Amino acid sequence: MVIYNAKDYNDMSRKAANIISAQVIIKPDSVLGLATGSTPEGTYKQLVEWYKKGDLDFAKVKAVNLDEYKGLSKDNDQSYAYFMRKHLFDHVNIDINNTFIPNGLEEDSKKECARYNQVIKSLGGIDLQLLGIGGNGHIGFNEPGEAFEKETHCVKLTDDTIKANSRFFASLDLVPKFAYSMGIKNIMQAKSILLVASGKSKADALYKAIYGEIVPSVPASILQLHNNVTIVADDDALSIIKEKGLL
Ligand code: GLP
Repeated sequence: MVIYNAKDYNDMSRKAANIISAQVIIKPDSVLGLATGSTPEGTYKQLVEWYKKGDLDFAKVKAVNLDEYKGLSKDNDQSYAYFMRKHLFDHVNIDINNTFIPNGLEEDSKKECARYNQVIKSLGGIDLQLLGIGGNGHIGFNEPGEAFEKETHCVKLTDDTIKANSRFFASLDLVPKFAYSMGIKNIMQAKSILLVASGKSKADALYKAIYGEIVPSVPASILQLHNNVTIVADDDALSIIKEKGLL
């Protein structure tokens, strides 16, 4: 695991965008595993800027997202499909037919999870998986639990996550209670992983993820078992790790 200490959110975003850019330059037909949430917004903004300057070409890139709220259509402005178009896909030359995200409107969870697992397999593996981290250590929507979930599954969101994500919705009641998410096995099979974290609210989760026990109650701790993980985190997110003299 390599940890890059960024000064602040902007520095984290630029460093992360540099790593994704390098991936796309080295392998123009990369399969990128993408993430939503406020943390990667700056990374996407930077990638769009570099694309507009002519430094990046997404024509052959394929993108597969981690998760989607169950019950939201792709045109709902709180859906992750909408987020991806708003922050990245609408601004670069990626072929929208090469972008994949769970279908929030499919009510049959078993059917949708099986379909999405098949999508991931058909892409032949993820070259670089971008991840944020929840304050409770979740990755994608793999919530803390009794066991690591393997593949795409329907998740009952925890109260913590519903509360944290309610800042994007008009009220707490409007936050969906369920989501479709890639599982830990899908994530761990990515050839490389880039986790971004910013802010004090992530410091405890990041410390436990990197230095704690590998337990399903901290889903991100499984990343300790992956052989190609890069963490780009700012001073605040690394504050506990630094206080303990681990970095
Ligand atoms: C959401 C997403 C995750 C994201 C996390 C943190 O629930 N499903 O993929 O990493 O929460 O979000 P943020 O970056 O907004 O703190």
